[in-house]
Amino acid sequence: MRTLVLLSSVAILSTLAVKCKYDGKDLENNEVITVQNAFRIKCLTEDNGSWKTEIIGCVTPDGTEINAGEKKEVGDKVHECVKSESGQVSLKESKGRTAACPGGQKHGEQWQEKSFKFRCGDGGVVKFEACVGQDGSVIPAGETGKIGGFDVKCEQHANGTITMQAANDPKSYDCTAKDGSSKKNGEEYVEGNFVRKCGDYGQGKIIGCHAENVGNTIGINQNVTSGDIVYSCTKDGSNYSFKTYSLKKPEVYAMCAHEGKQYKNDTTFISQGSFRMKCVTFKNLTSTLEVISCITPAGVEISIGTQLEEGDKVFECTPGNVTLKSTPGQTGKCRGVYSVGDTWVEDSFRLLCEPYGKVNLKSCISKEGVEIPLGEARRVPAGYAMECVTVNGNVALQTAKTFDCETGTGEIKKFGDTWNEGNFVRRCANYGVSAIIGCYADGVGSIGLNQNMTSGDFLYMCINQNEQFKFRTLKAT
Ligand SMILES: *[C@@H]1O[C@H](CO)[C@@H](O)[C@H](O)[C@H]1NC(C)=O
Ligand SMILES: *[C@@H]1O[C@H](CO)[C@@H](O)[C@H](O)[C@H]1NC(C)=O
Ligand SMILES: *[C@@H]1O[C@H](CO)[C@@H](O)[C@H](O)[C@H]1NC(C)=O
Ligand SMILES: *[C@@H]1O[C@H](CO)[C@@H](O)[C@H](O)[C@H]1NC(C)=O
Ligand SMILES: *[C@@H]1O[C@H](CO)[C@@H](O)[C@H](O)[C@H]1NC(C)=O
Ligand SMILES: *[C@@H]1O[C@H](CO)[C@@H](O)[C@H](O)[C@H]1NC(C)=O
Ligand SMILES: *[C@@H]1O[C@H](CO)[C@@H](O)[C@H](O)[C@H]1NC(C)=O
Ligand SMILES: *[C@@H]1O[C@H](CO)[C@@H](O)[C@H](O)[C@H]1NC(C)=O
Repeated sequence: MRTLVLLSSVAILSTLAVKCKYDGKDLENNEVITVQNAFRIKCLTEDNGSWKTEIIGCVTPDGTEINAGEKKEVGDKVHECVKSESGQVSLKESKGRTAACPGGQKHGEQWQEKSFKFRCGDGGVVKFEACVGQDGSVIPAGETGKIGGFDVKCEQHANGTITMQAANDPKSYDCTAKDGSSKKNGEEYVEGNFVRKCGDYGQGKIIGCHAENVGNTIGINQNVTSGDIVYSCTKDGSNYSFKTYSLKKPEVYAMCAHEGKQYKNDTTFISQGSFRMKCVTFKNLTSTLEVISCITPAGVEISIGTQLEEGDKVFECTPGNVTLKSTPGQTGKCRGVYSVGDTWVEDSFRLLCEPYGKVNLKSCISKEGVEIPLGEARRVPAGYAMECVTVNGNVALQTAKTFDCETGTGEIKKFGDTWNEGNFVRRCANYGVSAIIGCYADGVGSIGLNQNMTSGDFLYMCINQNEQFKFRTLKAT
């Protein structure tokens, strides 16, 4: 806008041809000149010699003349020549009603930029019309509408900024799970096989899958194997899916066969009326039968390693190659023949039948028929002593080294003792037999073997000739 102020419109007395003066120039009455390329000034003179210059209009840059107080539309521009009461004149230029907008849009044209709708209004002014939601719903400027079910306000502020915002804090929207329960923003929850997280505007977004046997959330496009099951969580486009695959192979198992019958793993049956068998199968499809207990003739089951007395018999279920062993009971016969308490002779021993068929050695019997109880010794008719002893676990009948001796008069002498008997000195030696170790004479004393002794008029001789003992008394010469 351009403005011109005429300061001097003062009338000055003049003679004859009165002229106006403007910026050092003389102007004829009614002459109009253009100043500053924008204003038209007219010279007015009076007969009494006074004159004045007056702004009568404006000139647009393209030369169109407009009278003061008028406006003219040229092209898409409007020029207005405004004259104020104080005499100030301005040339105002503005866009025409049908002027295009700065972005090139034609007058009245509507367009959308991002989420906002505009229209090119009068004078090329861009008018904000409405907000547009992603789902296409439109909210007129200055109003509140619903986008995706939520209240959104569409506004143009005084500073020109346009906003489209939720009427409330998006985080304040709770999510509603399928079971009707409310979930807070950010909260994760399980819905069927999916794990959702409550996001803005109460939208529960799927963030993974959920399986009972898997502790953690299975991420999207992730496979998790638990045991022999694969859990697969996938997203295909906008579809989510949860699948389980089993790695299990069809079950194949072994069975035990026995006497034409089939038995399953871990089952038992009775075989031959004497054993309880168990079927044991292995993963490699082999199987074995195990004996787990024995059954006595009376039908009592006894476990391996134990025994049971039944009637006059004792039954034992032996370990290793399991067998049911029968042995005589308390009143059972020994060797199937002898009753408890019976004795009998076998070789040079007397045996005794004891309870449970136990055969015990009672005594030894010498050649001559002398019975020597086990652990004792006896003199046998041959003169020496024999003993019935256990040597290295075996019972033996052998000579008894340290048996007592008996004198001619029936006196008992211990092993090692010496005594006088007649004219000889004897000592109790091995096997209960006495040996002559010297001679003896009353009033003289003992004389060693093969020794002479002189006493008074006598010579005493003690002779051992090849174990022939003699005692002689000679008259000394
Ligand atoms: C000259 O005449 C005009 C119009 O008739 C009048 O307005 C003005 O006052 C006169 N000037 C003088 C100085 O007389
Ligand atoms: C414009 O005004 C709005 C509302 O008063 C305000 O939120 C925004 O920050 C302002 N923008 C600018 C650029 O000043
Ligand atoms: C998950 O397992 C399935 C079935 O075996 C397979 O098709 C898929 O490619 C796997 N996905 C991933 C991410 O490993
Ligand atoms: C998603 O599921 C719908 C309905 O089951 C189906 O029509 C569509 O083809 C699926 N999209 C993809 C990418 O698989
Ligand atoms: C057989 O049974 C036993 C005991 O129940 C079990 O431990 C074993 O794994 C089974 N064998 C097979 C091949 O299934
Ligand atoms: C099958 O498995 C059992 C137990 O592991 C083993 O003792 C046997 O030797 C195996 N047999 C074969 C044929 O591999
Ligand atoms: C079990 O019997 C078999 C065959 O009869 C034999 O070879 C094996 O040594 C026996 N084992 C035992 C511990 O007695
Ligand atoms: C003992 O006396 C006899 C007879 O005189 C004699 O023959 C003998 O050699 C003597 N013996 C000893 C050991 O002196």
